[in-house]
Amino acid sequence: MKKKIVILAGDGIGPEIMAAALAVLEAAAPETFEFIEKPFGGAGIEAAGVGLPEDTLAACQEADAILLGAIGGPAGSPWEQASQTPEQGLLALRKELNLFANIRPIAVPDALLPLSPVKEAIVQGTDFVVVRELTSGIYFGEPRELGVSEAYDTCRYTVKEITRIAKIAFDIAMTRKKHVTSVDKANVLATSKLWRQTVETVAQDYPEVTLTHQLVDSCAMRIVQQPTEFDVILTENLFGDILSDEASVLPGTLGVLPSASHSDSGVSLYEPIHGSAPDIAGQNIANPASMILSAVLMLRQSFNLPDLADQIESAVYHVMNEGIVTGDLGGKATTSEFTQAVIAALGK
Ligand code: NAD
Ligand code: IPM
Ligand code: MN
Repeated sequence: MKKKIVILAGDGIGPEIMAAALAVLEAAAPETFEFIEKPFGGAGIEAAGVGLPEDTLAACQEADAILLGAIGGPAGSPWEQASQTPEQGLLALRKELNLFANIRPIAVPDALLPLSPVKEAIVQGTDFVVVRELTSGIYFGEPRELGVSEAYDTCRYTVKEITRIAKIAFDIAMTRKKHVTSVDKANVLATSKLWRQTVETVAQDYPEVTLTHQLVDSCAMRIVQQPTEFDVILTENLFGDILSDEASVLPGTLGVLPSASHSDSGVSLYEPIHGSAPDIAGQNIANPASMILSAVLMLRQSFNLPDLADQIESAVYHVMNEGIVTGDLGGKATTSEFTQAVIAALGK
């Protein structure tokens, strides 16, 4: 039976990088996957008036895995007036599927070392994972209100929510260098005080793992100053969003960073950490590596196909080593040229 993958190409560069990933999957493993394309984000609004159409959600619930490109329009887009914006559609999808664990691996392949804006000596050996809580915190807390002269959001976390994401981080650490850095703002925020206490409790079940607590402001500094010090960064929704984009400075672009989002037992979703990049959309110049590497995570984590995953990942790094890179990394390759080079490098 073919694996059923729901394809949410989305907006902006989403469809361009998705086409690249699907071409690579089809070339590496013909006839293995069934791709079911559904409108989502701005494309969902165009098709059905909302960011997450009912039919799209139903297809996702039935899928073996979900690949998502990116959603969102440029500032001032009419989609911002929709009853459910593209971004609200994305949050609704994460919530509906209970995708509370967002895994964002940050690695700098050798080929990218000289291209990093950070000194090579600092970046070399960078290999950490951001474990971002994805379905709670200030993104979802109630009440929230946008008034004329006042607005507010609510940041809320429960012990149950913190415990389950902390366990994921410690489990990942057990397969790596056994070091968790839990990032919070416990010198100010009540939610962070609860976060720190709860992570301490979870840590007691993992005596082999070293736990460090770090305040988010100094963590932001250390990510670019001493990135090799990190193994697993465990953090809440908003901090994880910001820190992972910051970490993209290490490889030199958002265009190479994938992510995986998991629930306790249901379907998982794989997407780049970046957005729809309206500034470069429609020009065939986006870096598709983030999307191809998201598909690689899917092969490993949803389908237990490590050899196929390794083959595609090696092809991506081989192409970068050859100096074939897109404009975000200072190269001249188009999206399709990079993709064709990856396909040609499969099995090399
Ligand atoms: P962005 O991540 O889309 O772009 C930031 C910068 O990185 C831009 O200069 C862009 O050109 C560049 N970039 C991103 N991905 C790239 C790639 N693959 N190749 C080359 N360059 C790349 O962030 P933004 O501009 O702040 O947001 C644009 C839209 O994306 C907004 O509507 C936002 O809400 C949405 N967004 C969606 C997601 C998602 O779908 N998961 C994530 C973040 C932002
Ligand atoms: C991401 C994005 C989303 C987030 C937005 C588009 C809702 O920035 O996936 O990182 O903030 O989670
Ligand atoms: Mn983000």
